[in-house]
Amino acid sequence: MDTELLKQTANFLVSPGRGILAADESNGTMTKRLEGVGVSSSPESRNAYRANLFAMPTMADAISGVILYDETIRQTAVDGTSIPDFLHGIDVLPGIKVDTGAKPLAGYENETVTEGLDGLRERCAEYFAMGARFAKWRAVIRIDDGLPSDACISANAHALARYAAICQEQGLVPIIEPEVLMEGDHSSQLCFEVTSTVLDATWAACETQGVFLPGALLKPNMILPGKSHPQRSNVETCAKMTIDLLHNHVPSEIPGIVFLSGGQTEVEATAHLNAMNNMGPHPFELSYSYGRALQASTLKTWAKNQDNLSVAHSVFAHRCQMAHLARFGNWSEDLEA
Ligand code: G3H
Repeated sequence: MDTELLKQTANFLVSPGRGILAADESNGTMTKRLEGVGVSSSPESRNAYRANLFAMPTMADAISGVILYDETIRQTAVDGTSIPDFLHGIDVLPGIKVDTGAKPLAGYENETVTEGLDGLRERCAEYFAMGARFAKWRAVIRIDDGLPSDACISANAHALARYAAICQEQGLVPIIEPEVLMEGDHSSQLCFEVTSTVLDATWAACETQGVFLPGALLKPNMILPGKSHPQRSNVETCAKMTIDLLHNHVPSEIPGIVFLSGGQTEVEATAHLNAMNNMGPHPFELSYSYGRALQASTLKTWAKNQDNLSVAHSVFAHRCQMAHLARFGNWSEDLEA
């Protein structure tokens, strides 16, 4: 294992003012997103949208890495080079989603285990040769009556740890993503308790598998009530509870936390990150690996203005700038106007 390369990559991904763009939607998810804005989904339309996104001139000021899907890492950028070469050329590291999705967990209704370990070593070696320097694997944990089960937590923790160990052996920094979903009517307190248990199980599995923590990043959910819970939490409460979680349930050797947005609006995800960065110091960088919270308004704008790409670029530039400011706790709501 090249621990120096892993540390260097992980630190680069969470360097000051920068974070990760999650553009690794599977073809199924991307089809829903494109059809949602009236664009039919094909390899060409997915490539057109993403190649345009990555060509936004100031993207690298706020984005250190982009997570790609298998289809995208093999596609072409606006200048005709490969997408990984284009990203390296603008000082942005290409990453790759390597899990093959959340599949039903045998014997446990409504729960999933994320798959993709078979052949992972060979796939990681191929992606590294194509230019990828980090990877992502998303475990999905649902809160409901009696859920999550211990079986779901331990199966997903084991898979995350095995994935992380294989990635590191192949030179890729693993993003460890155990996502506790926002779906449901649970309270923030229950979200906190479940997320703590899931993180503790994940680190225990990582220790057993020999994962090198300074060369890994954590991609967690923030602590929020379920979407159907009658009360919303305010920005301060979410930030305090999430910080409490991280300080007590994440080893300080982890160099950075790169949050998922998980269905929060663009402004909510930015406000929460900003508030947390204002509550420092923290033992790790607090950054982003947002999908929808960096892309939602840009995708809508691109769909309507495909003949004038600068319109979508200006919307994406704004979201990037807001996220960049939130890394320093310098964002404020009036900047959204
Ligand atoms: O795995 C989840 C995605 O990479 C992040 O997407 O920010 O829309 O939740 P999201």
